[in-house]
Amino acid sequence: MAVIETAKSAGFCFGVDRAVKLVYEALEHGKRVATLGPIIHNDSVVADLLQRGARIISNVSEASPDETIVIRSHGVGKAVYEQLNSLGLSYIDATCPFVARIHKIVAEQSALGHEILIAGDATHPEVEGIVGHCSENCTVFHDKDELKCLIDRKFEKSKKMLAIVAQTTYNKLLWEDCIKVLPPEHPDILVFDTICSATGARQSDADALSRQSDLMIVAGGRHSSNTVKLYDVCRRNCPTWHIAEPEELLGLSDTLRAAAADALAAKTDGSPLRIGITAGASTPAHIIKEVQTHMSGIFDTDNIIPESDEFRAAFEEELDKSFRKIRTGERVIGIVESISGNNEVMVDVGAKQTGIVTLSELTSDSSKKPSDLVKVGDELNLIVIKVNDADGTVQLSKRRVDELVGFENILKAKEEGTVLEGTVQSAVKGGLVVNSDGVRVFIPASQSGLGRDADLNTLVKQDVRFVIIDVNEQRRRAVGSIRQVQKTERDAAKAKFWETAKEGDVFTGEVKSLTSYGAFVDLGGIDGMVHVSELSWARIHQPSDVVSVGDTLEVYIKALNPETGRISLGHRRAEDNPWVKFTENFHVDDVVEATIVSTTSFGAFARITDGVDGLIHISQLSDKRVTNVKDVVNVGDVVTVKITEIDTEKKRISLSIRALLDTESEEAAEESDEVVYSDENAEAAEETAEA
Ligand code: F3S
Repeated sequence: MAVIETAKSAGFCFGVDRAVKLVYEALEHGKRVATLGPIIHNDSVVADLLQRGARIISNVSEASPDETIVIRSHGVGKAVYEQLNSLGLSYIDATCPFVARIHKIVAEQSALGHEILIAGDATHPEVEGIVGHCSENCTVFHDKDELKCLIDRKFEKSKKMLAIVAQTTYNKLLWEDCIKVLPPEHPDILVFDTICSATGARQSDADALSRQSDLMIVAGGRHSSNTVKLYDVCRRNCPTWHIAEPEELLGLSDTLRAAAADALAAKTDGSPLRIGITAGASTPAHIIKEVQTHMSGIFDTDNIIPESDEFRAAFEEELDKSFRKIRTGERVIGIVESISGNNEVMVDVGAKQTGIVTLSELTSDSSKKPSDLVKVGDELNLIVIKVNDADGTVQLSKRRVDELVGFENILKAKEEGTVLEGTVQSAVKGGLVVNSDGVRVFIPASQSGLGRDADLNTLVKQDVRFVIIDVNEQRRRAVGSIRQVQKTERDAAKAKFWETAKEGDVFTGEVKSLTSYGAFVDLGGIDGMVHVSELSWARIHQPSDVVSVGDTLEVYIKALNPETGRISLGHRRAEDNPWVKFTENFHVDDVVEATIVSTTSFGAFARITDGVDGLIHISQLSDKRVTNVKDVVNVGDVVTVKITEIDTEKKRISLSIRALLDTESEEAAEESDEVVYSDENAEAAEETAEA
């Protein structure tokens, strides 16, 4: 069992806190900020400030005229102020008032001709600054021994009065030792206790805590002199570790556990392990919290003694500062944290309140669920509708941002004539409602691209392309036209067609409409016509015998007339001509199977191949006399016939059944053929067949 306790005064001191706040404020007011050296001995705070636009310079000459220079809490010498003023640079003086007090003391004492002795580290920026306010007669000393030498020398050589001050973070115990070596109540020695009370309090608290702890952790920058002094104070009383970042504890966990085991073994009263934590004046409260968390993990304990009110107040203030203030109407970025059923999405907007986006504020599409639209981790552009501090929530809307952005796009699209895309949401009285980038666009029925009596519902849920033809900015209403897009595209397609098309070009197009004389085929924005005679090699009465609206047809341009705009198309291919195919494959005297397709008073027509019929004259139907054709054959019968003649000029074929029955009949058939082949009879036969 272990108990974790944090020193009463730990972390940010008043002076550092003030300096850091001044930099944040300057940045928030849009100033370009350059700090004279790192504002604080804490890498994470410095990194945050750099990320927000501040920069660090090491001397005034590096500053730009438009920058505001920040003098950090350590303060600077008189020469730096003179340089800033002579260059006309604006600056913020964040010198800690406790340090400024020392500047005042040493300046006054120097002016009186007194010799100044400074207890501290001569290389520390604060001490350099103090020296910079003294005349030449000043000396820095480390400890009582150096002080004693100085005093002895002084009283040997000069009669000047001495003024002794200390660096604000000077070790209080060392200071007390120093006082002891001074001659008591000497009239020529003036002592100013300038150790900062915050430093003193931290050191006293650290001393007290480390005396009752089994091990101590001191958090703070490696170059932070007050942190180093806290470390010195604590390690006199118990095993102590100085860490700059909480994560360093992970690498120390075994060492810490071993030290804890030793401490517990040495205990005779069975009391629990006591772990103390303190931190330097540059350490933010959240770092101290992280140290507590790491230590409670390493020692598997939740027994953390509550921090002082002072610390808690600092932590809450820091937390508040880290959260952005949020105002109604503000545009914010939110990260999706969770999706609650079908109703709402929780988002983190970097504020202390929980962000909520209800479904109706997520989308205007009521058919969607939150999970259809977003997933955890998504970044959303949102607008604040309402801040509710009482229940710690912020109502946000994505839909309204989409509409705002969408409407800006709509205005731009109208100006530039851009074609937009959207989904038809519904058919309403007089037109369609289309959603484009979250904006409702009304498309009047006359601009829908459909015919006058067409059903607008056929476009619902369809993606459509349209242009904006009217906008009412105040009411955020837009009117669009699908028809105009179609017309523009048709015109462009027509222009391109007439520029490039030539006879023989092949197209594959959809049959758009049919008449009794032909089929109109879409060639890509322009229609051409295939005459009924061009649709098939077979004998057809009307286009609908072979094609329907919506069919896809391969066509070629037979003739073009740019003046009338007429385009004649062909569909039948010469190589598909059934007569040509027939003459290549069939010859006189061939015996073939044929199907009776019609009968007349003088004979029957039989189909040999698709599109090729021959005539079986009544006299050739049998070797006996036939008075009625239907007594021998009927439509649909399949008969075996002999090809007795092929008239390539007139494209006529004579067939005979009788020729196959016997020789005698064959001879008789030959006699009769002369009758069949007379033009008169053939034409009469064809007329009859067509009739
Ligand atoms: Fe000032 Fe004391 Fe902090 S001198 S900067 S308040 S440690």
